[in-house]
Amino acid sequence: MKKEKILVTGGTGYIGSHTVVELQNNGYEVIIVDNLSNSSLEVLDGIASITGKKPDFEQIDCCDMSAMERIFNQYSDIKAIIHFAASKAVGESVEKPLMYYRNNLVSLLNILELMSKYNCPNLVFSSSCTVYGQPDKLPVTEDAPVKAATSPYGNTKQIAEEIIRDAIHADKNLKSIALRYFNPVGAHPSAAIGELPNGIPNNLIPFVTQTAIGIRSRLRVFGSDYNTPDGSAIRDYIYVSDLAKAHVIAVERLLENRNRKGLEFFNLGTGRGLSVLEVLNEFEKATGVKVEREIVGRREGDIEKVWADPSWANSELGWKAETSVSAMLQTAWTWEKALKNKK
Ligand code: NAD
Ligand code: WQD
Repeated sequence: MKKEKILVTGGTGYIGSHTVVELQNNGYEVIIVDNLSNSSLEVLDGIASITGKKPDFEQIDCCDMSAMERIFNQYSDIKAIIHFAASKAVGESVEKPLMYYRNNLVSLLNILELMSKYNCPNLVFSSSCTVYGQPDKLPVTEDAPVKAATSPYGNTKQIAEEIIRDAIHADKNLKSIALRYFNPVGAHPSAAIGELPNGIPNNLIPFVTQTAIGIRSRLRVFGSDYNTPDGSAIRDYIYVSDLAKAHVIAVERLLENRNRKGLEFFNLGTGRGLSVLEVLNEFEKATGVKVEREIVGRREGDIEKVWADPSWANSELGWKAETSVSAMLQTAWTWEKALKNKK
């Protein structure tokens, strides 16, 4: 049976590409809109090598209203939108706040306006655990207070959630699921798609794999004096394909009108917190490769510890992160080695 058409913005990006694979594997037709500001056309070949089908692709900036409107005219049967397209580097957002507000918010405003105008009511939005800041209670649940953002990037996610809430309040036809991701890691097991960090990685896992393969001389462990069992900071690392599968379920929930309120929030995490040092141990155990490290001071703006209570997503979406830490780190390592071979 032919399933519905889904518009995926940012679909050649890291999480987007893994989600496109899951959508196609579940029979959905996918149209990707991406301006390739942080991804490349080769990702489409990677997707096709896994699913056997190249998704439709339009190189468009979501901030360009007339180009986006053309998409809604051209593909009149779009049933849902998954909006990944955004700039995501926390440090860069401090340097270029206006660029972040423009890119992350104008793109969303355009999409919401077009959703109302073209009667295309279903939106899955990429939010982030960053909205919780340092939570008072752990594990963190969806009803925890949203804390003042520590970066313009984080603020764009908070404002975006508010914009969606207000748009739905005004147009009762609209529905949205905001997925609050914890720390997505790993790559598709085929190593046909994965994370492509631009320049020196900020995130832990790409830095770990680049150190293991010799691109970087050592990993700096930021902070050894946190109030955690080993003194390093704790996060909830979730396998990217597990995360991707939750988007397919969210789309189905919207299409079947099963969301209870206009706007719902779900934590996408494993429920298990791992310290930086534990991640390094797990990586060395999983791959047999040593990671040179140096313990240094805290990174500015970092929080001490956060991990999800994913029970609402588990019970309500029927979704659970299933991949072990060891397996997810192995996929990250396989991907790093595949990248080396491509060079
Ligand atoms: P990514 O940079 O790999 O993917 C984003 C994609 O969007 C890229 O392909 C980029 O070219 C595209 N893009 C950016 N601005 C655009 C625009 N104006 N028009 C069209 N395309 C545009 O990032 P990702 O890690 O896949 O993140 C996807 C989403 O998830 C983002 O909204 C991000 O903020 C959110 N998120 C990511 C993480 C994470 O750690 N990776 C965590 C929480 C939330
Ligand atoms: C994880 C841990 C670092 C690099 C960021 C954004 C967040 C979200 C995900 C989008 C921290 C430590 C890291 C290194 C290290 N993105 N670390 N050495 O900071 O949890 O979250 O990405 O929404 O908004 O802030 O992820 O991977 O950068 O860091 O010790 O070289 O690893 O200090 O404790 P983070 P991360």
